[in-house]
Amino acid sequence: MAGATVLDIAGGRPGADPTSAPPMVAVRNVTKRFRTRARSGEPDVMVALDRVSMDIDEGELVSLLGASGCGKTTLLRILAGLVKHDEGSVVVQGTTVREPRRDLCMVFQNFGLLPWRTVIANVAFPLELDRMGRAEREEVAARYIETVGLKGFERHYPHELSGGMQQRVGIARALTRKPLVLLMDEPFAALDAQTRESLQEDFLRIWKDLRTTVIFVTHSIDEALVMSDRVMIFTPRPGRLRRTIESPFGPDRVDRDVRALPDFARCRQEIRQMLREEPQ
Ligand SMILES: Nc1ncnc2c1ncn2[C@@H]1O[C@H](COP(=O)(O)OP(=O)(O)OP(=O)(O)O)[C@@H](O)[C@H]1O
Ligand SMILES: [Mg+2]
Repeated sequence: MAGATVLDIAGGRPGADPTSAPPMVAVRNVTKRFRTRARSGEPDVMVALDRVSMDIDEGELVSLLGASGCGKTTLLRILAGLVKHDEGSVVVQGTTVREPRRDLCMVFQNFGLLPWRTVIANVAFPLELDRMGRAEREEVAARYIETVGLKGFERHYPHELSGGMQQRVGIARALTRKPLVLLMDEPFAALDAQTRESLQEDFLRIWKDLRTTVIFVTHSIDEALVMSDRVMIFTPRPGRLRRTIESPFGPDRVDRDVRALPDFARCRQEIRQMLREEPQ
C-alpha cells in the first residue's frame, strides 16, 4: 500500500519506542464468550472476541472495522466497563477497567437522548449526575453545545432537531466530562450520506482541538479511512484483530478532502480485499 504501513502485529505502533509513554489504552488478549442455545436446545458457548490485543496512544483516533457480528460493539462495551470479558485485561491510563467510569464515555448510534429534556438539559445530564450545580453545569454544557455547532438550539427538544443535530447533542454530552477516551459506536450510521460526511468533518475538527483519544466503530471503509490515524480490521466471528493499517494521510486529513486522493481509492480497495479474505 503506497505510503501506508501495514502491520500484521496485533495493534502495536510501527517503530514504537519502548521507552516512550505508556499507551492510553492497553488491551491484552481479551476473550469474550457468550452463552447461547444451540439448535438442539442445548446450552452452547459462542466466542465473540478471541485474544484481542491493541495499544492506543493518547490523542489517537482509531477505528474498529469489521463485518456485522465480529464483536466491535462488544469490545467497545468491554472498554467502557459495561460488559465483563472472560480473559485478558483492559487498562486505561494505568488503571484496569472493571466497571463503568466517568472518564470513559460512549456515543451511541441511536443518539440516546432523553426526549423530555431540552438540548442543554441533555448535554448537562452527566454533570447533573456528578452533582455539579445548575449554573456551572449549564455554563459547561453551553460551551460544548457551541463546540458542536448548535449555539441557539439550547432550549429546543430532541424531536425539534434533525438526526445530525441530535447526534451533535450526543457528542456534546459525551464531551462534558472531558473523557480520557471517547467510545463511539457507529455514531453516524443512522444519518444520510451528506449529513454523515459533514459530521465526520466537523467531528475531526473538534477532535483536533480537544485531542481526546477516540475509539470509533464503523462498518464503512471510507469512514474509517477519513477519520482514523489507524484502522483496526477484525475477522468475522470469532472477532480477532486481523490487521492494523496506519493512515497514509496523517493529521493532514483533518483539513483536506482525502477522498479525492489516489491513495484513498488504493487503500479502500486493499481493505475491501482484506475483509473478503478468509481468516487464516
Ligand atoms: N448479550 C449477548 N448475549 C449473547 N450473544 C451476544 C450478546 N451480545 C452480543 N452477542 C453476540 O456476540 C457477537 C458480536 O456481537 P457485537 O454486537 O459485538 O457485533 P458487532 O461487530 O458490533 O456487529 P454489528 O456491526 O452488527 O453492530 C454476535 O454474534 C452477537 O450475537
Ligand atoms: Mg455493533
